[in-house]
Amino acid sequence: MSEPTIEDYYHEERTFQPSAEFVAAANAGDRSLYDEANTDLAAFWARQAREFVTWFRDFDTPLEWNLPDAKWFVGGTLNVSYNCLDRHVDAGLGERVAFHWEGEPGDTRTITYAELLDSVARFANGLKSLGVRRGDRVAIYMPMIPELPMAMLACARLGAAHSVIFGGFSPDSIRDRVNDAEAVCVITADAGYRRGAPSALKENVDEALADCPSVTSVVVVNRCDTEVTMAEGRDHWYHDLVAAASADCPPEHMDSEDLLYLLYTSGTTAKPKGIMHTTGGYLTQVAFTHHYTFDLKADRDVYWCAADCGWVTGHSYIVYGPLANAATSVMYEGTPDTPRAEFRAGARGEWPKDRFWDIIERYGVTQLYTAPTAIRTFMKWGADEPARHDLSTLRVLGTVGEPINPEAWMWYHAHIGGGTCPIVDTWWQTETGGHMIAPLPGVVSTKPGSATFALPGIGVEVVDDHGVPVKHGGGYLTLTQPWPAMLRGIWGDPDRYRATYWSEYEGRYFAGDGAKVDEDGYLWLLGRVDDVMNVSGHRISTTEVESALVDHPAVAEAAVVGATDETTGQAIVGYVILRGGHDASDALGEEIRQHVAKKLGPIARPKQVVLVPDLPKTRSGKIMRRLLRDVAEGRTLGDTTTLADPNVFDEIRRRAAGASGED
Ligand code: PRX
Repeated sequence: MSEPTIEDYYHEERTFQPSAEFVAAANAGDRSLYDEANTDLAAFWARQAREFVTWFRDFDTPLEWNLPDAKWFVGGTLNVSYNCLDRHVDAGLGERVAFHWEGEPGDTRTITYAELLDSVARFANGLKSLGVRRGDRVAIYMPMIPELPMAMLACARLGAAHSVIFGGFSPDSIRDRVNDAEAVCVITADAGYRRGAPSALKENVDEALADCPSVTSVVVVNRCDTEVTMAEGRDHWYHDLVAAASADCPPEHMDSEDLLYLLYTSGTTAKPKGIMHTTGGYLTQVAFTHHYTFDLKADRDVYWCAADCGWVTGHSYIVYGPLANAATSVMYEGTPDTPRAEFRAGARGEWPKDRFWDIIERYGVTQLYTAPTAIRTFMKWGADEPARHDLSTLRVLGTVGEPINPEAWMWYHAHIGGGTCPIVDTWWQTETGGHMIAPLPGVVSTKPGSATFALPGIGVEVVDDHGVPVKHGGGYLTLTQPWPAMLRGIWGDPDRYRATYWSEYEGRYFAGDGAKVDEDGYLWLLGRVDDVMNVSGHRISTTEVESALVDHPAVAEAAVVGATDETTGQAIVGYVILRGGHDASDALGEEIRQHVAKKLGPIARPKQVVLVPDLPKTRSGKIMRRLLRDVAEGRTLGDTTTLADPNVFDEIRRRAAGASGED
C-alpha cells in the first residue's frame, strides 16, 4: 500500500487542537487573557505595558481616546533601545545571543546582547557626531545585515525617527520618501547579496540624493566591497564612524507618544503614506504579541522571522518585539533559493532548494514566521527538500501578509510542522503595528485558512455596506476600539488619516479588507476590497503602477489590475493604450514593463503589460477593472451591460494572449 497522501491525512472542515503537552507549557493555556481584556480594556493594556516595558517614568493614564486620535500610556517616558538592550544586559543576559546572522554567501555572525548594545551605542554616537538629533528623521536603505537593526536601534536611542526603505525600491521611491519625511541623514550599504551577486544600493541613494535638499550626511556600511563614490563631506564609512565613537551613549528619555518611526506604505493613490508609530504603545503591543502569539520561551527558543526589515513585519517581529523580549533570533540576508556555498560550484540544476530547512536544522529553530507566498513556493519545490532535514526543533509556525489557502496551510502543517506544530495565521497591517487577529496557540483550535479570532484586547467586527455588524457571512473588516500599537497618523496629512481609516464606517477603523465570519465565529480574510494589490504579501497600489506606466513617453493611458496568481497571491497586469505614433511591439511592451521597475522598484514590475487599442469604460468614462481582471484570470466576462463599447474585449483578449511578460 502506498504512503498516505496529504489529502488522506487532512480533510475539509477539520480543526486542529494543540496537544495537551503544548497547552500545559504554553504562555497562555486558558482564556484568562481574553476575560481580563473584556472586563477592563485600559486596565488590561496598562498591565501589559508594565509587564513588557521598563519605564523611566511610569504613565499616569493608560488611554486618552478622541477619535481618531489615541494617546496610550500618557505621561510615561521610556527609551525603546534601552528596553531592547540595556535592561537585558543589566539583568545579566549580556552573553545571550540576540542574532544568529547568516549572510547569503554563507558567512555568519553571532551577536550577543552585550555586543549589540555596544554597537548600537557607538552607532548612535556616530550619528550624533554627524549632527543627528532627537526629533530628526533618518532614512535607512540597507540589506539584511546586522547593521540594519543596529541603525534602527541607534535612531531610537537618540530619539530620531527612522524611515526604513525596502532595498528593492528605486531611486525615485527613495527620493519621494526622503523628501516627504525631510530626512537629514541616510544610512545605506555599498550593496547587499541577492541571488549570489552584490546588488547595488549606494548607487541608488546617490541618484536619489541629487534631489533631496534636507539630507546632510550619508553613512555607508561596506558589505560587499564593491566600488562606490563617496561624496566629500557628505558621505562617511560606517566603520570609520563607529571606530571613532564612544560606546557610552545614554538613551534619551522619550515620551510615550514621541515618534519612533515612519514606514511608508501604498494606499489607493499614487502617493505612499508615511505611517507614524510612537514608542510606548507600540512596544507594549509588539512585545506582548510576540510573547503570546509565538509562545516564546526566551531562555531557550531560537526564533526566526524570515521577513525583511524593510517591511513592518521586520520592524515588529525581527527587531522590536523579539529584542524587547530578550529573544534569540535567526536573521538571514538572502533568498530561499540561494544554495549554501558548498553547492555553488555545481551545475545550477543540481542545487538543492533547502536553504531554509538547512538553517532551521543548524540553528535549532523553534518558531518560523513566513509568508504564504513563500510556503506556496516551497510546495512547488517539493516536500523532499524539507524531508532531508531534521526540523523537529520547530514548535510554532507563523504566517503573515496575505490570506493563506487551506492547501498551503496543510502542507506547512504536515511537511514543516511534522503534523504537530500549531500554525498561527496572523492578520495585521503596517497601520496596526502588531498582530490583531491570530490564534493564541495554546488556547484556540485552528482551521486551515482562518486567522481565527481577535487577540485579547483587540476589537474586530465584520460589517455590511451600512456598517451593521454581520453575525455570519461576508463583509468588511473593521476594528472597533483603539489599540496600543495603532498608527498615530499619516506623516504631514492628518486629513488623509481620518478620511482613509475612520470615515467609512462611523466610529470604526476600516482596514480595507474583506472578511467572512463562519458559523463558529472564525474569521476568514478575503483580501483587499480597495485598489490595493497584494503581491507576495506586499502592498502595491494600482494607481501607483498606473502613474508609473503613464510616465513612459509612449503611454497615453493605463489601467492596472491584480490578477490571482498561484504563487504570489496576486500579480500585476497592466493594460496600456499607446500614444499616436507608437506601434505596438513586444519590445515596446517589455520596455514599458522595465520602466515601471525603474520608477518604483523591481517589486512593482508588472508580470504582464498588454498593449491595447482601447480600455473597457462605462458610459461615464470609468475604467471597469473588474472586467480586466476577468480577462487577466482567463474567466468569462462578468456583466458587460454598462460598457460604452462591449466589442472592445475581442481585441484586448487577442492582445493579452500574445503580450510581453514573465513566464
Ligand atoms: O490585506 C491584508 C494583508 O496585508 C495587508 C497589510 O499589508 P501590510 O501593511 O503591507 O502588512 C503586511 C504584514 C503585516 C492587510 O490589509 N494581510 C496581512 N496579513 C494577513 C493578510 N491577509 C490575510 N491574512 C493575513 N494573515
